[in-house]
Amino acid sequence: MELRRINESDKLIILEWRNDPRVYKYALNPHPVRLEDHENWFAKVLKNEKCFFYMGLVDGKKIGTVRYDIGELENEAEVSISIAPDFWGQGYAFELMEKGEVLLKKESMVKVINATVLNENTASMKLFTKSLFQPVLTKFKKEI
Ligand SMILES: CC(C)(COP(=O)(O)OP(=O)(O)OC[C@H]1O[C@@H](n2cnc3c(N)ncnc32)[C@H](O)[C@@H]1OP(=O)(O)O)[C@@H](O)C(=O)NCCC(=O)NCCS
Repeated sequence: MELRRINESDKLIILEWRNDPRVYKYALNPHPVRLEDHENWFAKVLKNEKCFFYMGLVDGKKIGTVRYDIGELENEAEVSISIAPDFWGQGYAFELMEKGEVLLKKESMVKVINATVLNENTASMKLFTKSLFQPVLTKFKKEI
């Protein structure tokens, strides 16, 4: 797998993946995104120097993205990873995460990566555990 920075040519495929019900089911905002909102967000992200956003390609085919957003602290980032549903379960997320971390280390001051995952997102829970992330916080919820 090869990684490169996201560019304008990735705009629509990223929206297509994001709006697949199998994907947004586990998003923190579990609804489809409108094209106009996506375009605004994408334009900002491309310009944002605190956003390290990579596309993973296998044999030249786009298979998923990994994004690191730097917040207040320049040495901490929040990760977000997404693999095209047709390519799930083949180890691509693990490889993309490993390679993304190598690039991020080269290109930024980041030393700590944070991730927020829904407990019911089994694939993601397994992925972060396998990628040696440590759990630090559990949020509880109860419907009354
Ligand atoms: C989470 C996601 C990135 C995993 O991608 P993937 O390429 O299928 O993951 P991998 O093949 O690298 O597998 C990673 C681990 O998850 C497990 N896994 C993958 N799909 C699974 C599934 N449907 N159910 C249970 N475990 C699953 C794998 O077995 C592997 O663990 P193991 O090596 O211990 O067996 C992908 O499902 C996705 O894009 N989901 C939508 C976006 C999302 O939820 N992102 C995470 C929040 S930041």
